[in-house]
Amino acid sequence: MKRGLWFGTNWKMNMTPGLARQWTDTVTAYMQNMPSDHRLFVMPPYPLIPQLLRDTEGTGLIVGAQNCHWESRGPYTGEISPALLKEIGAHNVLLGHAERRKQFDETDEVIGRKVSAALHAGLGVVLCIGEGATLKGKQTETRQFLEQQLAVALRDIPSIQPERLVVAYEPVWAIGVGGQPPQAEEVADALSSIRQTINQMVDECVPIVYGGSVTLQNGRSLLTKTETDGLFIGRHALDPSTFIQIIETAVGERSEVE
Ligand code: 13P
Repeated sequence: MKRGLWFGTNWKMNMTPGLARQWTDTVTAYMQNMPSDHRLFVMPPYPLIPQLLRDTEGTGLIVGAQNCHWESRGPYTGEISPALLKEIGAHNVLLGHAERRKQFDETDEVIGRKVSAALHAGLGVVLCIGEGATLKGKQTETRQFLEQQLAVALRDIPSIQPERLVVAYEPVWAIGVGGQPPQAEEVADALSSIRQTINQMVDECVPIVYGGSVTLQNGRSLLTKTETDGLFIGRHALDPSTFIQIIETAVGERSEVE
């Protein structure tokens, strides 16, 4: 069995304070019996971060934000600084998600500035990269595309402390309702090329997780047939019991679901 796995969820623009409390109650109860070298992280909408931090204090659940600005203060109406996230106790921040790249025109350069600012503020970073549908199946072009995303996002990062950076490979063609269900074989090649690129860029061992239409049915094969260090789950982790089932099935504590 793989060790030291990371399982995370991005709530996107979902959940309420009440549902969040049910979720944290269920997941933190599960964490008491979880192998201690696994890491669980959750990215709620900003207003729920203080509640989650309070309700999960001392449990080891990593609570992060879904975005931040690259400046630490200033005239940026509607934005949130990494310094403020750090001060309220957030542990990490998700940057480079495909939905932000597409819907909010975030470029690799913008994401690079955010990654640098967040790490300097003392936050951990979950950096998303991934190719769109036009590159699906084109291995050489996909490899170059992912290398470019990584090179720009990480170019201002001289050194990374252990556990401060996680890379999430989320191919755009697999994300969300309407996304194509991923086959382990087709993500395996991308994951190993990301691993090679990262090894050339930073000394630390950076966990690489897979995200995009992870389900109870495919979690185990994605985990066991690729070099992934974990799974990053969207809509199928909003129900805490399903999130736990996906984890348990993937790591082999339950028999594989047909
Ligand atoms: P889905 O699991 O809903 O495809 O979303 C994945 C994702 O975007 C995680 O950031």
